[in-house]
Amino acid sequence: MSDRLYIFDTTLRDGEQSPGCSMNIEEKLKVAHALSALGVDVIEAGFPAASPGDFEAVNSIAKEVGKNTIITGLARAHAKDIEHAGAAIRPAGDHARIHTFIATSPIHMQAKLRMQPEEVLQRAVDAVTQARALAPQVEFSAEDAGRSDMDFLCRIVEAAIKAGAGIINIPDTVGYMTPTEFGERIRSLRERVPNSDQAIFSVHCHNDLGLAVANSLAAVEAGARQVECTINGLGERAGNAAVEEIVMTLKTRYDHYHIDTAVDTTKIIPTSKLVSQITGMPVQANKAIVGANAFAHESGIHQDGVLKHKQTYEIMTPESVGLNTNRMILGKHSGRAALKSRYADLGTELDGDALNAVFARFKALADKKKDIFDEDLMTILAGDDEVDMERIKLISLHAASGMGDTPVAAVELEIEGELLKATGEGDGPVDAAFKAIKSLVEPNGKLLLYSVNAITAGTDAQGEVTVRLQNDDLIVNGQGSDTDIVVASAKALVAALNKLPNMHARKVHAQYSGV
Ligand code: KIV
Ligand code: ZN
Repeated sequence: MSDRLYIFDTTLRDGEQSPGCSMNIEEKLKVAHALSALGVDVIEAGFPAASPGDFEAVNSIAKEVGKNTIITGLARAHAKDIEHAGAAIRPAGDHARIHTFIATSPIHMQAKLRMQPEEVLQRAVDAVTQARALAPQVEFSAEDAGRSDMDFLCRIVEAAIKAGAGIINIPDTVGYMTPTEFGERIRSLRERVPNSDQAIFSVHCHNDLGLAVANSLAAVEAGARQVECTINGLGERAGNAAVEEIVMTLKTRYDHYHIDTAVDTTKIIPTSKLVSQITGMPVQANKAIVGANAFAHESGIHQDGVLKHKQTYEIMTPESVGLNTNRMILGKHSGRAALKSRYADLGTELDGDALNAVFARFKALADKKKDIFDEDLMTILAGDDEVDMERIKLISLHAASGMGDTPVAAVELEIEGELLKATGEGDGPVDAAFKAIKSLVEPNGKLLLYSVNAITAGTDAQGEVTVRLQNDDLIVNGQGSDTDIVVASAKALVAALNKLPNMHARKVHAQYSGV
């Protein structure tokens, strides 16, 4: 008998909370659309009370994506948080959910909340009651449930269901549980809470001991029917359970679980790449399902086996997760029709001016690089979005470095039509180029993150660089890719600078700039 598991994606909330992963509204919208196309059931779009920017992001996602997917906003068990969450998710209509939480473990109640268990219980009931009046769906989470007293947990869960929570989430907030213990906890809650049949049980596991996926699946075996997870396993500290691992385990081991999800698994790799590109958080090569080596067979014995029969060493096909193994299909002799058709295979229909613009950039890349991979095509496409927003353009860049030499860079930027030049010296050619560029504009932001990723194999691979800048309260990301890593870095910096409002040319004489 088959059963259905709801996938609750929290990449935009718990994932975005992880160090260095913050996204702006435009980026969150891109990820939300991709998650909806992937087929997750619920998108936790953010924490609306955290800041006006968070509110706006959740609200925009509710407007644009809420028709197809349930959108939820997180709220502490505080009246103001719940009001903010209710207002932010309202555009999602029937698909709007408030997710309210309070900690229930002795250590959290005593040391963090400084509240007695009875006060916590009352606060949970009040929060769920208030949320129920503001949204058609309410989820209640008992934070640090893994370390909570079982009797108290049963009481608060029963009270939350009675107050109107249709989804009860049991988080292992600190990733402390083992699969046997956690499964037992879910089984026992379902058996002991008298009204447990009136709610869907959900789990939210952190990965501090590397057990987030195992714990989530143990909970599924014990009757949980919603799993909270993130793309690439992003999340606080060691992260959350990874969507791709949960979904592919259920699919690959259907014989064991007999449980389906609504996820279109062929969109897993493109979604993973998008999230990695936007957050600047590379995926480790040996990461299950989405790592660069996940389907690579290196040893002779394995290669021999796979050539004779794929299933000797492959338990799922690369195609089933959206990895195209027929990768070297385009190069400098490919025409517009081939490009259009390849983009169509990748899910993007291009025609007219859009196709012409992308084709021109494709040809420019093909002049520099023999084989154009799908990853390159996705990068071309992503960059194309930003062409119209370019107030600064990188016109030229020359960098020189060598053993024992001081690295130097010379740049030419066009800033709102004016051509400006600068030179810079630094600790390496990238640093020199950044100093030269930054000397020409203000504000130029504080560098929060610089990350480099080779997006395809080989020494002619395109390097993809993410740069994150902060100016006052605003954090912006820029991406750049090129076969030359210094140029990719400069492009990424310029893309980020283009997102800073009021950014303008700095009035300095070029000869003084850049050093
Ligand atoms: O880890 C956790 O407990 C959480 C809750 C807010 C669900 O993220
Ligand atoms: Zn969490």
